[in-house]
Amino acid sequence: MRKRILSMVLATFMVASLLVGCGGGAGSANKVGVAMPTKDLQRWNQDGANMKEKLEAAGYTVDLQYASNDIATQVSQIENMINSGCKVVVIASIDGDSLGTVLEQAKEKNIPVIAYDRLIMNSDAVSYYATFDNYMVGTKQGEYIRDALDLENAAGPFNIELVTGDPGDNNARYFFGGAMDVLQPYIDSGKLVVKSGQTDFETVATANWATDAAQSRMDAIIAANYADGTNLDAVLCSNDSTALGVANSLEANYTGEWPVITGQDCDIASVKNMIAGKQSMSIFKDTRTLAAKVVEMVDAIMKGKEAPVNDTETYDNGTGVIPSFLCEPVFADINNYKELLIDSGYYTEDQLQ
Ligand code: BGC
Repeated sequence: MRKRILSMVLATFMVASLLVGCGGGAGSANKVGVAMPTKDLQRWNQDGANMKEKLEAAGYTVDLQYASNDIATQVSQIENMINSGCKVVVIASIDGDSLGTVLEQAKEKNIPVIAYDRLIMNSDAVSYYATFDNYMVGTKQGEYIRDALDLENAAGPFNIELVTGDPGDNNARYFFGGAMDVLQPYIDSGKLVVKSGQTDFETVATANWATDAAQSRMDAIIAANYADGTNLDAVLCSNDSTALGVANSLEANYTGEWPVITGQDCDIASVKNMIAGKQSMSIFKDTRTLAAKVVEMVDAIMKGKEAPVNDTETYDNGTGVIPSFLCEPVFADINNYKELLIDSGYYTEDQLQ
């Protein structure tokens, strides 16, 4: 830990002296690279746009890139950022384990790397991590199901199915782990039953968080377990893109009472489903908050100061604990979405119609 802090201080000092050395002359003196995974999911578009806007307002030039969920594309975009003079690179990785080699180059050039939302694994080039509290996202989803089914008091048993995210995304294990820490005792006691028997992380994972993959897995689960009219009471979905796939599948194949369905991101399609009664909740991670925090981090690094962090224990990426800033997620449902999403200016009422 001490070694990491020393090397971070050294890196920020080098950046600061580089900036002084450039004297504001070179175009790249103020350049920040922002590498996002994909434009397919609404949230990453917002994350990228918010960061670009805030960084530019703070006087930085921004190289913002999206990689269509293709690892090789993301690697070459980052390589380009490193070689074209970016002074700090902010990365939301596609696969947390695939950036070690390219980040060696960042380290050689003393370019600090901020892992954005998703931790970059097994690379000691990562200086900071900024995210929402991923474990808390999962516990809030689990608690929502617990409370909606009144698991403490109701007799049950209730049927539940589990759908989580991409195995290459470190977050998915935190989301699933947090939710299962709440739900597992009820599964153990028999109050919750997973009729499909699919409970381990690898089996319930969804490659690339893809809606169609979640949908076809759910199609098979319904055909094998719920086609005879058996009720499905809840589906734990780790995010909105998977919740959407589950809702699509239920609509096409399921005749029982609509289950409690969780989600995350408050994507427009899912908020619309929430209003229509097809998704029960979504975790709201205000991308404006995270983007603002990362801009603060970048600004501190560029000025040779220490970046703000509030967690130095949780996120070990395999090379040591990465100093992190964790923002707090909240849940949105039919009762509070207007206040959270519309009154706060996140969406307009029209966008949700
Ligand atoms: C993010 C989620 C998002 C998911 C799919 C995760 O790493 O934390 O907000 O839904 O990736 O893009």
